[in-house]
Amino acid sequence: MRTLKLGNIGSLVSFNSELSKMVTKRDVEVVIENGTIIEIGKKLGDTDYFIDCGNNLVTPGFVDSHTHPVFVNTREKEFEMRISGISYQEIHERGGGILKCTKLLREASEDILISKVKSRMDTFLSFGTTTVECKSGYGLDTGSELKSLMVIDKINKNHEIDMIPTFMGGHDFPSEFQNKKDDYVDLICNNMIPEVTKQGIAKFNDVFCEPGYFNIEQSKKILETGEKYGLLSRMHCDEFSCFGASKLAAELKVNSADHLMEIDKDGIDRLAKENVIGTLLPGTTFFLGKKKYAPYEDLQKQGVEIAIASDYNSGSCNIQSMPFIITLSCIYFKMNILDAIKASTITPSKSLMIDDKVGSIEKGKIADIIVWSIPDVKSIPYSINQSNINLVLKKGKPVITP
Ligand code: NIG
Ligand code: FE
Repeated sequence: MRTLKLGNIGSLVSFNSELSKMVTKRDVEVVIENGTIIEIGKKLGDTDYFIDCGNNLVTPGFVDSHTHPVFVNTREKEFEMRISGISYQEIHERGGGILKCTKLLREASEDILISKVKSRMDTFLSFGTTTVECKSGYGLDTGSELKSLMVIDKINKNHEIDMIPTFMGGHDFPSEFQNKKDDYVDLICNNMIPEVTKQGIAKFNDVFCEPGYFNIEQSKKILETGEKYGLLSRMHCDEFSCFGASKLAAELKVNSADHLMEIDKDGIDRLAKENVIGTLLPGTTFFLGKKKYAPYEDLQKQGVEIAIASDYNSGSCNIQSMPFIITLSCIYFKMNILDAIKASTITPSKSLMIDDKVGSIEKGKIADIIVWSIPDVKSIPYSINQSNINLVLKKGKPVITP
């Protein structure tokens, strides 16, 4: 088997499982064989191939654990409405929002969707994201939700990026069910979830638990049904109001409670007690023009493990760059830079239950690695208007090159 060595590394920044913390190593080399990291150390022996890292920074590839990339149309009109003072929820009440993507998603052929989503995956990879969680949730009928997950499945088989599929029939109520919402929940539980799991095309089940969307009882039913069929749970919680969603997240011990902009002290305490990972999405707060960011410092103080993710979607957050999400986390959460790297690599991979394989540069892990053109992690949040990524390795193979 051919071996590859990354040498002349200025600093290697990664989570270290033995020490259970982020560690910066200097002047080390990394040897990769068959896509896996087999050795990290000083002055290692010769290999078949060599990459000179130019005395620069090396980190794990980013793991983006919350995205909604399967849509057809963008929603600039809603952006314009928001800057004129109309809120995301008001736009939803007027029939906009998620449902503005449903008609075109339902009409789109699988080929059109594949070409759109594939090009979005290329963009993720160019920003250093080597694993991305991808939700369905714009189709909102059985056939269209299955089509969305099938698109994810097909691209995942051919694209270098790793896509982790999440079923999100519980994203919104389609127009034909506006006056019989419980019937839509029944459709999700009795038809969509059994079909999705029969085809084996989703790992997680997510629900938008929020006033105006799925209430506590409906969310609980959808997630418990998913669990019964083997789908692990994630939740959109306390994005716009605190009405008990994170308490449900704690009760169900979900894999990840996401957003948390409006979480209260009780919710924080419960997530901490049940060891539920909180995934914060500062890009959404920023893109919606809101002032109140998730209470990172309180969550951290109580011991809630924190991941950060893009929430890339066509409405509330048109951002794919994890380096930019890191910038926002540093500025608005006052997150320490090493904590931001941890929150965008190992912690999201833990929430996706793949931390035995990805999320850190350690012996035995898959070689998903970013070679930067900067010597120090401090330059990641600081440099917003240029990419500092020189090389992205996926399973040891250079997939983004200078
Ligand atoms: O996470 N909150 C629900 N879902 C997305 C928004 C999706 C959309 O507006 O299209 C979010 O913000
Ligand atoms: Fe979301």
